[in-house]
Amino acid sequence: LLVLPALRRWKKGFVDLPKNHSSDDTVELLDKDIIQSHLHHQSIHIDVFGELESTNTYLMKQHHEDTLSRVCLAEVQTKGKGRFDRRWHSPFAKNIYFSLSCSFSKSVSQLSGLSLIVGLAVCKAIDAVCPQKNKLMIKWPNDVLVDQKKLSGILIEIKSNTKDACEVVIGIGINVNMENADKEIINQPWTSLKTLLGQKQSRNQLCAALIDILLDDLNRFKCESFFCFMNEWNKRDVLFGHSIQLLSNEKVYTGIEKGVSQQGHLLLQLPSGELKTFASGETSLLK
Ligand code: BTN
Repeated sequence: LLVLPALRRWKKGFVDLPKNHSSDDTVELLDKDIIQSHLHHQSIHIDVFGELESTNTYLMKQHHEDTLSRVCLAEVQTKGKGRFDRRWHSPFAKNIYFSLSCSFSKSVSQLSGLSLIVGLAVCKAIDAVCPQKNKLMIKWPNDVLVDQKKLSGILIEIKSNTKDACEVVIGIGINVNMENADKEIINQPWTSLKTLLGQKQSRNQLCAALIDILLDDLNRFKCESFFCFMNEWNKRDVLFGHSIQLLSNEKVYTGIEKGVSQQGHLLLQLPSGELKTFASGETSLLK
């Protein structure tokens, strides 16, 4: 995985390597040419940056006349964003910080299943490039977990919308080669592909698989709906049949998770027996 020419190029042309980065570390830097050489989809614009505040923020600020999908990757994010205004820990050259901007001829309300299919695409890309014995599961709406530990998170932001079209930025963070982080920095159970598989994984190959699988699934979602992904999603539903807590619109609900609706909304059976549907919120397993 030693890619020294890329490291030198990066050192000269971009920002300085972080001070705490040891030059003895073997580093595979992100490389647009390598990613493109693995891609089946060629009609995509890819930008790779050394440092960005956030790949999502970058694409949210970009404006183009065409509707071409654009991918943005960064080696480090200085203000990586998580859901609910949290920070996403984004150390240099360890993980994948990936954003994709794309357009839909659908209203925002028709996009409710989108974040679920993105979680599914992340699972499939990891399975394709870094297969492992533990099944990758999804905690509604889109946290990718292994043994209840978070491996990947997704943040979707709406860039513009009218009643029948919208443009979104899909942000994906995958913990690839990160091995340690202070408890104050990541305050929830987490894991990485290196921890799970015992060796470093290629971020370039994983990025290429992610782009291909995501673009295929997004095209299918554009023509059809979440319904055609529902069975596949249910097989990865880590909360199904369990007692859970849901925080939605500042209210806390508890109940039994009964899967998702055809729109990708969460189905929760309340203690009264009522089956209630939720379009957004944060779930957690009750012990
Ligand atoms: C979560 O809270 O689970 C969502 C995390 C999303 C992190 C990714 S990293 C790439 C993209 N850019 C960001 O600033 N956030 C997303």
